[in-house]
Amino acid sequence: MKRYGRSVAGGFLAALAVLGLPSSQAQAQAYPTRSITMIVPFAAGGPTDVISRIVTGHMAQTLGQTIIIENVVGAGGTTATTRASRAANDGYTLITGHMGTHAASVPLYPNLAYHPEKNFEPVALLAGTPILILARKDFPPKDLKEFVAYVKTNEAKVNAAHAGVGSVSNVSCELLNSILGIKPTGVPFNGTGPAMNALVGGQVDYMCDQIVNAVPQINGGTIKAYAIATPQRNPSLPNVPTTAEAGLPAFQAQAWNAIFAPKGTPPAVVARLNEAVVKALDDEGVRKRLLDLGSVIPAAAERTPAALGALVNKEIAKWTPVLKPVQN
Ligand code: MLT
Repeated sequence: MKRYGRSVAGGFLAALAVLGLPSSQAQAQAYPTRSITMIVPFAAGGPTDVISRIVTGHMAQTLGQTIIIENVVGAGGTTATTRASRAANDGYTLITGHMGTHAASVPLYPNLAYHPEKNFEPVALLAGTPILILARKDFPPKDLKEFVAYVKTNEAKVNAAHAGVGSVSNVSCELLNSILGIKPTGVPFNGTGPAMNALVGGQVDYMCDQIVNAVPQINGGTIKAYAIATPQRNPSLPNVPTTAEAGLPAFQAQAWNAIFAPKGTPPAVVARLNEAVVKALDDEGVRKRLLDLGSVIPAAAERTPAALGALVNKEIAKWTPVLKPVQN
């Protein structure tokens, strides 16, 4: 089957060459002729992985090719993002980046080996992901007010799980901890998939995580949710108060996940990928799965590559004065 597909594409490219189209343009028009690799910069089972799998499952149908998810972990997502920035810019290696890898990492890592704007083409925003303050089931505080008092009093002994320096969970809890004026011990994992397992297992105390990773656990009663850091409650968790309702209005946080391609990927390829994302986000099944997990589905105007480029630019500007560089 594969050989047949390749020869058809080859014939198509040869025909375009005869018509005088440059081969890069011809390749972009035939794209994709083979499977695509989507790098996910965190462990399987976490929010980036789950969102990627939901959306790329539908994109693969539109594009007529398999999309292989490759989880590449380390350094808060920056190891994978560096790799993606150096991949061939032919549309066959992409990355699902997020607020951490493509914004917060810039001020955090002065020696970052890539720049989100200089080394990537924005493809499309996939989902907004509100942040929740979560704790192990038997963590003593009953509500957010008690949580605030408890972590302040027990600062030296509490710990907070995260997915590495620069990850969303790390940056969100840094923001929370700075509002509370505390510096608890951080416990890094390769993603909040494994971090969530540790929270469920009671090995860590609390975490600031994206909603898609938390809804099944909260509804299953395996962890506690103190508040959601958005102005409104989320329909997937109607009983979880907002931080404003629970007494901590200053803590507001929502992350986002998006697809990026290496810089110089042909515009026609970016357009084809963007079209496939838009189609996925309009699909009833995909929408239901994302909404059931509490995601915020981008509106039409937010789905273009230009809108994602503007978001990245705005987010880098937002985080740069807030985050202090770490040694790397
Ligand atoms: C993060 O904290 O950046 C993410 O939740 C990581 C992940 O997707 O596991």
